[in-house]
Amino acid sequence: MPEKENQPPANSPSNSNPESTKPKRRGPPRSKKPAAGKSKKVEDSSVKQKKPDAVTTDRSVPQKQDNAQPQKRTQKQPQRAPERKKPHHDQAGSVRDLAKLKGVRPIVALTAYDSVMSRLVCDAGVDFILVGDSVGTTLLGHKTTIPVDMTDMLRHTAAVRRAEPNCLLVADLPFGEASFSFDHLLDSARRLMQQGGADAIKIEGGRDVADDIEKLVATGIPVLGHIGLLPQTVKAIGGYRKFGADRQEAEDLYTDAIALEEAGCFAVVGEMIEESVARELAKQILPPLIGIGSGAGCDGQILVSTDVLGYHVNKPPSFVKTYANLNQVISKALSQYVTEVKSKKFPA
Ligand code: KIV
Repeated sequence: MPEKENQPPANSPSNSNPESTKPKRRGPPRSKKPAAGKSKKVEDSSVKQKKPDAVTTDRSVPQKQDNAQPQKRTQKQPQRAPERKKPHHDQAGSVRDLAKLKGVRPIVALTAYDSVMSRLVCDAGVDFILVGDSVGTTLLGHKTTIPVDMTDMLRHTAAVRRAEPNCLLVADLPFGEASFSFDHLLDSARRLMQQGGADAIKIEGGRDVADDIEKLVATGIPVLGHIGLLPQTVKAIGGYRKFGADRQEAEDLYTDAIALEEAGCFAVVGEMIEESVARELAKQILPPLIGIGSGAGCDGQILVSTDVLGYHVNKPPSFVKTYANLNQVISKALSQYVTEVKSKKFPA
């Protein structure tokens, strides 16, 4: 990737869009090597209450027509859905809110793949929901995320959107979508937003995808970066492992993170990065670094919701903290149902 200046030239795509979500670089140009222990001051640390902005999709519920005839009530009305919980006062509602959380408090995110989990995860107070391509390994029975395609991602993203979550909704770009051409990538990103209802998209990769990310951001598509372990490359790297243990890999991670910052990512996921390296990266880059298996030095944390809930077929990775054992709860309830039907206890 060609070296970039601090400010893009006047004719660069990122200057053509005044609403661009690209973070503004402050301070002098930096070297490509991490400067140990140096942290940057984040200037604007105020976090406003959720407020839709230019890149937030319209979540309004269609209004009833004034001239609609009242329906005859021959039957008891079905029970209304329970009242929505109020959004948590500090929950990020836009990519700008999210970026401003850096240095204020840890950002928190979870995956969701359907409407039920979307509502629960959002009401718990997360800053953003990721419809991850991890849906392939967690719910769809695949061994890796590679078989997950646009049809899967659109279906699950739209299901998550239908629950009308009050937080930011990010959808993963599936394997291969960034590799055909920029037009193909743009079209896939557009579909995730227009058809799926995503507020932003996530793309795996660093320097290799930075130029395309810059063009997407200039088009008005907010992008969440993803470095470290890239599950879509698992066949190429030969398995899941930590990244950044040796100096060369740590420097590569730094170069990737800077490339994503310069491309305009509003935040970057850092998966399975050595804790000390992730801590240093979080200090060095302007966008928040959201860690998964990368230790406590990141600006925020994301986990796969089914792992957190103990609802899985495959054992979750060792860095996961499991807060419930849904497998056990569900097994017990289902066995009880089977027993009661067989013994004619249910229906009573
Ligand atoms: O697909 C996913 O769930 C992810 C997270 C692990 C960050 O990419």
